[in-house]
Amino acid sequence: MQEKKVEAQNILSMNSVEVLYDNVMLAIKGVSVQVPTGGMIALLGSNGAGKSTTLKAISGLLKAERGRISRGEITFQGADITEALAQKRVEMGICHVIEGRRVFEHLTPDENLTAAAPHGMSRSTLNAEKDKIYGYFPRLAERKNSQAGYLSGGEQQMLAIGRALVTQPKLLMLDEPSLGLAPFLVEEIFGILQKINKDEGLSVLLVEQNALAALEIVSQGYLIENGRVVMHGTAEALKSNSDIQEFYLGGGETDFHNVKHYSRRKRWLS
Ligand SMILES: Nc1ncnc2c1ncn2[C@@H]1O[C@H](COP(=O)(O)OP(=O)(O)OP(=O)(O)O)[C@@H](O)[C@H]1O
Ligand SMILES: [Mg+2]
Repeated sequence: MQEKKVEAQNILSMNSVEVLYDNVMLAIKGVSVQVPTGGMIALLGSNGAGKSTTLKAISGLLKAERGRISRGEITFQGADITEALAQKRVEMGICHVIEGRRVFEHLTPDENLTAAAPHGMSRSTLNAEKDKIYGYFPRLAERKNSQAGYLSGGEQQMLAIGRALVTQPKLLMLDEPSLGLAPFLVEEIFGILQKINKDEGLSVLLVEQNALAALEIVSQGYLIENGRVVMHGTAEALKSNSDIQEFYLGGGETDFHNVKHYSRRKRWLS
């Protein structure tokens, strides 16, 4: 009974998942992550920790990289999706914005949104979705008829998020949306994400190395190192944790690029 209730509160539940690449490389080693329905959760960790692998396990993109889930299970809205095809997961409402803000550079932002719309979406629904996206991202509205390839990095990231939103997802997973962006842009985009999460009740799983920015907008975070969750807690608890402060928050806003370097010496694993 208790378990059923927990299940209903979590849109996504990942339990002790192991992922193998090429049948030999164990990339994640028993990762458990829960995303509450309507919640916003961060997955933090340094290079090679297993963050992207975790997202791929959820969206079903492992197969394309000769990876597979070798242990554990993943449920989405109570349904077991561990073996489901990627396309099926998209249809169920899982949207994965992969690292590197992929957009069609030769199309305009508006055409990019049209191209991302699910097959069979009516014109009126598509237009309503576009209006909503332009409402959240006014910069995108201003540039909607320019060539996407000429947008700034921040605008391209906004477009990548817009392309995800047009699919009307239930769970939005973002892989390092802040990468390479100036701090003010990260703040702007994260502020908008927080607003979308609140206004639309959209569940969000945010992968970030920029713990400082991520912990400002999520309710809980998981810290993953070497394929294992080494810490899980509320954003407040993580922010006040001395290891997190030293390795992830210590340098202040402009210093997060150095995180990769520092985080190689991890006190909580030694
Ligand atoms: N397609 C692949 N084939 C083999 N090994 C892989 C593959 N993709 C990732 N790995 C390995 O799995 C581990 C986890 O990688 P992953 O990309 O999930 O880390 P990450 O936390 O996203 O890192 P980053 O912050 O650099 O993006 C790493 O050791 C990586 O080398
Ligand atoms: Mg990654």
